[in-house]
Amino acid sequence: MVDCNVVVLISGSGSNLQALIDSIATADSPARIRAVISNRADAYGLERAKQAGIATLVLDHKQFDGREAFDAALVEAIDGFDPQLVVLAGFMRILSGGFVRHYEGRLLNIHPSLLPKYKGLHTHQRALEAGDSEHGCSVHFVTEELDGGPLVVQAVVPVKSDDTPDTLAQRVHAEEHRIYPLAMHWFAAGRLRLDSSGTVLDGQTLPASGHLIRP
Ligand code: GRF
Repeated sequence: MVDCNVVVLISGSGSNLQALIDSIATADSPARIRAVISNRADAYGLERAKQAGIATLVLDHKQFDGREAFDAALVEAIDGFDPQLVVLAGFMRILSGGFVRHYEGRLLNIHPSLLPKYKGLHTHQRALEAGDSEHGCSVHFVTEELDGGPLVVQAVVPVKSDDTPDTLAQRVHAEEHRIYPLAMHWFAAGRLRLDSSGTVLDGQTLPASGHLIRP
């Protein structure tokens, strides 16, 4: 199988990045993380990448004159690693339309809710406040609509009566660490793609919820 170069963008802890790194060591997959790029110099995920021998780069958005200028520099930096896939793993920046279009069909994001529910922030708290019995996480292709692109895979997590946002977040995080590697390896193996019908896995267009994993 031909290698699939992957660039991962982070802003923080990078536990999803760690799950991706660990999964490559065990999976028979052509995915190769060529670089980890952060907009924050203090992101712990940079340490995780260094420990795994992966190239790192910091591009501080505050050093740029506006979103377009930052995104243009980001595209240049990413493309220097010749990626087939770009993975957003806790990258806390809204990306411009130009950036998103440049990586159309090869840009994935993970979001801590069962999209289309709870786009944006504070998803665990919002699920609890709504009295939901189920919550979860979603991997999706990125389009210009924030947290709105075609879904690839979702994992459902039961909500317990004594859950706090923290306990629920922990349970959701464990599932994130399962589904993001899955999606990356599907893509790297050529099994996953985006076309005009939506998300296609193994030649079949997936339903709007993507591939659904229940507990
Ligand atoms: C995750 O909850 C992810 O769903 C969201 O940002 C968080 C990143 O966590 N997009 P980590 O940095 O991977 O630990």
